Amino acid sequence: MAFVTRQFSRSFSSSQALHHTIKHVTVIGGGLMGAGIAQVAASTGHSVVLVDTSADILNKSAKGIENSLKRVAKKKFAEKPEDGEAFVQKVLKNVSTSTDAASVVHGTDLVVEAIVENLKVKQDLFGALDKVAPEHTIFASNTSSLPIADIASCTARLDRFGGLHFFNPVPMMKLVEVIKTPATSQQTFDALLEFSKALGKHPVSCKDTPGFIVNRLLVPYMLEAVRLHERGHGSKEDIDVAMKLGAGYPMGPFELLDYVGLDTSKFIIDGWHAKDPDNPLFAPSPLLNKLVSEGKLGKKTGEGFYKHK
Ligand SMILES: NC(=O)c1ccc[n+]([C@@H]2O[C@H](COP(=O)([O-])OP(=O)(O)OC[C@H]3O[C@@H](n4cnc5c(N)ncnc54)[C@H](O)[C@@H]3O)[C@@H](O)[C@H]2O)c1
Repeated sequence: MAFVTRQFSRSFSSSQALHHTIKHVTVIGGGLMGAGIAQVAASTGHSVVLVDTSADILNKSAKGIENSLKRVAKKKFAEKPEDGEAFVQKVLKNVSTSTDAASVVHGTDLVVEAIVENLKVKQDLFGALDKVAPEHTIFASNTSSLPIADIASCTARLDRFGGLHFFNPVPMMKLVEVIKTPATSQQTFDALLEFSKALGKHPVSCKDTPGFIVNRLLVPYMLEAVRLHERGHGSKEDIDVAMKLGAGYPMGPFELLDYVGLDTSKFIIDGWHAKDPDNPLFAPSPLLNKLVSEGKLGKKTGEGFYKHK
């Protein structure tokens, strides 16, 4: 078990901590994002506890992490498979699992939450953890669309609360958006930037505004592509080809919508539209709504804008 470095004296409040190295991380939510975050943190020498609601889910998450690590090791240690196996085992030793977040946060420097995208559920989780986590522990949410300040509002550690927005698939994607609310202390923000770098990621600083940077640009762009198609300006195939060959994007907007999930995209745009109904960039799309109502959610259901095998 890695030792935690906590360099702050009793005469300083936790928000005035001189220096804070994040070594022990609790990741809540062992789904797509949480498992990826746990894998990357463990691979970079952090001690990680992964939390979810059932042992079954955690077994699946652990198996997923192991398989993903094996793929990494196969590439990284192509010449020396035995070193690859040692790497996998070493990383796996850094990860443990639990179904009880409250009982594992006592020794943690950072809680990263990657549970269901629901404000009330996230608030309930952080509200409960706030009562049992040590003073110095930083809380961070991986939310894609909810204001960090709203999630943090149920805790008494507003200065030690920020956003860490990772991208899917976490082991591959280099970017982390680090989000500072008006109440996040500079020390907390710096610790989150340092942590992102320690994971081998490239952090960018964001304000706590809808969609931060990437989704704020990407979601209206994808929706505008759907509107363009709805207005009869081009087939989805032509629009995808145009953006790949003309703008150099690796995927067209319809391919990307299928990859992200049509339900996820609809959820995000509906949330923004509810808050800012006059903004035409956030207008809902009848075609997107129709496909979601038919259960055509993209790659994960086998069909979205395209059919997937
Ligand atoms: N999927 C993406 O591309 C993506 C990208 C960036 C951010 N996000 C955000 O990350 C978060 C998780 O997304 P995901 O795609 O990994 O979802 P997911 O459905 O794959 O995983 C969520 C996990 O959280 C668990 N969970 C739910 N409530 C819990 C609770 N109270 N305590 C512990 N575990 C709980 C679920 O059992 C599930 O395993 C969301 O906030 C989402 O907006 C998603």
